[in-house]
Amino acid sequence: MAEIRKVGVVGLGAMGAGIAQLCVEAGVETVGREVTLELGARAQGRIAHFLTRKVEKGTLTQAEREAAVARLVITADPSDLADCDLVIEAIVEELEPKRALFAELERLCRPDAVLATNTSALSVSAIAAAISSPERVVGMHFFNPAPLMPLVEIVRAEKSSDEAVETGFAFGLRLGKTPIRCHDTPGFVVNRVLIPLLNDCIRVLDEANVTPADLDTAMRGGAGWPMGPCELVDLVGIDVHVRATEALHSQLHEPRLAPPERLVAMRDAGLLGRKSGRGFFTYDK
Ligand code: CAA
Repeated sequence: MAEIRKVGVVGLGAMGAGIAQLCVEAGVETVGREVTLELGARAQGRIAHFLTRKVEKGTLTQAEREAAVARLVITADPSDLADCDLVIEAIVEELEPKRALFAELERLCRPDAVLATNTSALSVSAIAAAISSPERVVGMHFFNPAPLMPLVEIVRAEKSSDEAVETGFAFGLRLGKTPIRCHDTPGFVVNRVLIPLLNDCIRVLDEANVTPADLDTAMRGGAGWPMGPCELVDLVGIDVHVRATEALHSQLHEPRLAPPERLVAMRDAGLLGRKSGRGFFTYDK
């Protein structure tokens, strides 16, 4: 198993920033790469904010917070990832940009570095096929919000080596997560179940003529969900959910996986959920 001293996180949106936060809190030197330094600084600000909240709530000391913040280096230059032992990709959920990034990582990183993708619905094997050493590619699928959700799915692609899989698993444990091992099937474990279920929830809105607030109350109070489905899709991002269900639909062809029209219309109108300030509900940005 590879020893992980330095980690790269590529893409510092909601998921990447959450993963980078976990890494620095676990004491790991972390390079966070964004397209521009301005976007990187924004993510750094969000991470600093959540760490400050932990100090205010007494779950982190001020000194631990300072040390964690200091472990994060923000860059826009991919060559700064060259000496990382593990790189976790969390960029846009589209196959071609991910394949291009992995090809670049193969050129830049040491041959023994493990390359992980946080893809939620694309094939890890298809991403790995972009490089000549697919054995070092593994899926490390975190859940939103990454700092709070315990699970990480460690996904074995067609050619993943045991070493890459076990390195991902051990690193998940080091981040304080509960990792599980699974194969590279569409949606892996959780999204294979959760995405069609969320689509059903959205369709029930119109079928049962129920408001989003009442549907959320129903699923919290009647099914024990910690968060209602509308609140959850707003958290994940309407655009992210539509893209994920499209990816699963194209692989599995189940009618339930076709994106609900209501979500497509919201996406097209720019109602993306929390990140845009409005989805099913409204939020302070
Ligand atoms: N990053 C870091 N820290 C965060 C955060 C984030 N995104 N969001 C919140 N926090 C911190 C905050 O500091 C917050 O405290 P303050 O509001 O006081 O600052 C603290 O965490 C605790 O937050 P909450 O009090 O809101 O915590 P909670 O007890 O209500 O639980 C929850 C929140 C864990 C998210 C819970 O509501 C839950 O389990 N919801 C379901 C989430 C879920 O199902 N996620 C999976 C989505 S599907 C997916 O991710 C798959 C995919 O591929 C797209």
